[in-house]
Amino acid sequence: MTLVFSQDNNGNFNGSPFDVFLIKNGLPQQPNPNETPLQYSRRLLRLVAGLSNPQWVTNEIDGEFLTNAHGQLFQFGSNELAGLIIFLTDNTSLDIATNQQRLGITTGLEVGNCLACHTPPAFTDFLFHNNGAAQEEYDSIFGAGAFMALAVPGLSVRQTNYDAYLPPTTNHPNALGTFETPPTTNNPGLADLGLWNVFANPDFPAPQAGLQQILPQLLSVPSPQITMAAMTGNNFFFSGTNGVPGWTYYVLATTGPSLPLSGWTVIGTNSFDNQGNFSFTNAVTPGVPQEFYALTLGTIPADIALPGTIALFKTPTVRDLVSSEPYLHTGQLNTIEAVIAFYQKVSAQTRAGMIRNAAPQLSGISLDASAVAPLAAFLRALDEEAYVDIPCPCQPQ
Ligand code: HEC
Repeated sequence: MTLVFSQDNNGNFNGSPFDVFLIKNGLPQQPNPNETPLQYSRRLLRLVAGLSNPQWVTNEIDGEFLTNAHGQLFQFGSNELAGLIIFLTDNTSLDIATNQQRLGITTGLEVGNCLACHTPPAFTDFLFHNNGAAQEEYDSIFGAGAFMALAVPGLSVRQTNYDAYLPPTTNHPNALGTFETPPTTNNPGLADLGLWNVFANPDFPAPQAGLQQILPQLLSVPSPQITMAAMTGNNFFFSGTNGVPGWTYYVLATTGPSLPLSGWTVIGTNSFDNQGNFSFTNAVTPGVPQEFYALTLGTIPADIALPGTIALFKTPTVRDLVSSEPYLHTGQLNTIEAVIAFYQKVSAQTRAGMIRNAAPQLSGISLDASAVAPLAAFLRALDEEAYVDIPCPCQPQ
């Protein structure tokens, strides 16, 4: 299903109460050139949290929903604003706490961290993540811990037993699709592992190059950190941590002195050790111009990457949720409030290490009961299909 959202001639979304709220308050509707959607989201948070005299969006005056089976009003008031702030708050914006208090959120700091994946203005990062939905579905049938214990083959076993594990294709019409089928009471071996079915699957050649490109983001690969650099005699030595055990890294060097540096050459190829540590020594010839060093990562081997694709699904937009229920690929949740309760649960489980291959961003979510109503009101203010009286941007507001 493809949903098309209302946009103006400049590509700005303009069909929901949220969009009209941005327009009425002169707030930016999309990133500046050279600004990522995440940077835009954080800037937007500062701007909305600092509004001294917000202009609210009012039903029938600013717009009206066309079909209104849910009795939903076309509005953006203080409750929706409180929800927007929770949605956009992450661990870089903890000073927003005072603004949350100003908005009447008193039980503690509500950190939605939703922007990490549902990044405005599209409210998706167009990537794949495991938000715990597959495990939630599986464990709801077979009990806590069942999905963690589910046997999933590695790359070589999967490829040599295509029919047993992978989805049917024209090359493999008899394949069982074992890991793209929702589990049922009588079939504990079935599960829907999402991206795992497609990644490194030769029957799906088209997406592989694109997947390789976003692989570090999909696997949330940590960035190696240099922790020590020193000259010992005529040797330059540096070492660090936080690499992925077994992966190849390249040490590059170039001589300065002008910036930007160019002419990088590979002077070493090595692997991170079992603890993800690395170290490198390079002989320095006295009198030769200063050298600059850099570390880059080699291609991630498919057999190491495959387990990291278990239960990853594409981030859906959270615009116009009224037309996408029931929610999640499992269709298990019927209301927005149920989805928020789901995130309260999986974020705690992720912090406790109880979700298999969990997206690390989930541990940044911290929501208690007082967050549910404003967050739900904000998400409903992303509904569209309305008659909208869009304020003309050419008029002074
Ligand atoms: C780690 C990335 C990530 C974070 C953080 C995250 N989400 Fe999601 N969200 C997803 C993915 C991926 C799905 C789809 C999962 C599936 O279908 O299995 C999803 C699905 C949803 C859906 C269902 C949409 C639909 O049409 O079915 C809603 C609603 C939602 N998220 C709201 C939120 C809210 C609210 C927050 C913050 C509290 C949040 N999400 C945080 C990745 C994320």
